[in-house]
Amino acid sequence: PLPIAVLVSGSGSNLQSIIDRIEAGVLDVEIKLVISNKTDAYGLERARKHDIPTRVLLHTDYDSREAFDTDMVHAIRESGVDKGGVVVMAGFMRIVTHVFLGAFENRVINIHPALLPSFPGVHGQGDAAEYGVKISGCTVHFVDEQMDHGPVIIQAAVPCLPGEGGDALGSRILKMEHRVFPQALQWLAEGRLEIDERFVRLKPANKAMAQQP
Ligand code: GAR
Repeated sequence: PLPIAVLVSGSGSNLQSIIDRIEAGVLDVEIKLVISNKTDAYGLERARKHDIPTRVLLHTDYDSREAFDTDMVHAIRESGVDKGGVVVMAGFMRIVTHVFLGAFENRVINIHPALLPSFPGVHGQGDAAEYGVKISGCTVHFVDEQMDHGPVIIQAAVPCLPGEGGDALGSRILKMEHRVFPQALQWLAEGRLEIDERFVRLKPANKAMAQQP
């Protein structure tokens, strides 16, 4: 299985969707570590329930983003995730720097509850509802140094219903997140994703399989 580390700041329902797929035998990854920058993130609890190692690193303990990222890199490396592994930002509400991205080049992915590049930030669902768009959704992408930005791997559309606020829209988007995030990870596990400039190419399944020893 592909070794991964998962970063969470909150409820961790996306982490749960990954755990559930692994346990169902349909996602070929192993979660080596869950890191949170919040002591009370429920995602930590979810990890512990499945005997997954956890670490809490408080960004408030650090003078700079780079110093925080350096410790995150160490923790992830120690857990057994190296350059060949993948780091998954699952509701991790921090921007990562070149220190982090350089250590895991093209191996950090994020999920966002809107159709990027529209509505980045911490309120993607509410911002879309408030704007009055008729379709929103979610995006899984490789991470670069900008917030909610980088080569797009997969998106799913979710219609915005009349009179619906950000919470209702967000909970329907979340259900879709739980489908596309494990899918993106499985593609990574199969070695099927290639980045060409800023475009992500999905290689055919059979070819990827044939390349495996
Ligand atoms: C998810 O909706 C995720 O897309 C969003 O945080 C939520 C985390 O939920 N991420 C962002 O807004 C990133 N800008 P979860 O903790 O239940 O997985």
